[in-house]
Amino acid sequence: MVLIGVVLLGLAFFIAISVLHDGLSARAKPTRLEEFMARNARHLAIPGNARLMQNPVLDSPEIQREARLHFADHCAICHGNDGSGDTPIGNGLYPKPPDLRLPATQDLSDGELFWIIENGVRFTGMPAFSDNGDHMAGNHGSAQDSWKLVHFIRHLQHLTSAERLEMERYNPKGPEDREEEQEENEFLNEATPKAKPESQTHRRP
Ligand code: HEC
Repeated sequence: MVLIGVVLLGLAFFIAISVLHDGLSARAKPTRLEEFMARNARHLAIPGNARLMQNPVLDSPEIQREARLHFADHCAICHGNDGSGDTPIGNGLYPKPPDLRLPATQDLSDGELFWIIENGVRFTGMPAFSDNGDHMAGNHGSAQDSWKLVHFIRHLQHLTSAERLEMERYNPKGPEDREEEQEENEFLNEATPKAKPESQTHRRP
């Protein structure tokens, strides 16, 4: 009995040490153990019947485009247009958004992907997008949109550069980008065939 107590205490101590590495900074890379615990917790958190749900939306080029632009607008800030998760915000999250193109995500069923989009992932940066979720819901739309996003996630591995370029135009813009764009537009409008003196040409801040 005492022996079991000692072993459990030792295990708890080991887990605490490994979880508390790097002072709980979100910049740290999760340990294998944490990754394992998080993945399994997620699996257990998704109800069995959700896993078996079929995508009611038929895939088509129009649906793909809609989902692509929706993803560019709402998801790419963390996940990147290509689903890699390699974005300034994504890299600052803990756990980080996984590369959605890899088997760990692609092996999830359509129902599981849908459930995650609708409900989010607790204790992570992944928000819930369903209508009755409390944040961001207003901009998201219906369950149909989440099913369309599932089709897009399946397409991520085959994203073309033309599609990615189009998405970039729909990525939310920060004030700095808008300012730069405006300056560029002003510059282009002012530009006349005559060459301008050096001092008047466009300078970036
Ligand atoms: C604020 C950042 C953020 C936004 C915005 C966001 N996500 Fe996530 N997402 C995450 C993080 C972080 C995870 C990883 C959660 C975890 O570790 O289980 C994640 C996980 C996921 C997963 C599960 C992947 C897997 O293999 O476990 C899917 C699917 C997903 N997101 C889709 C979306 C879609 C679609 C949108 C837009 C409607 C979106 N996300 C918006 C941060 C975000």
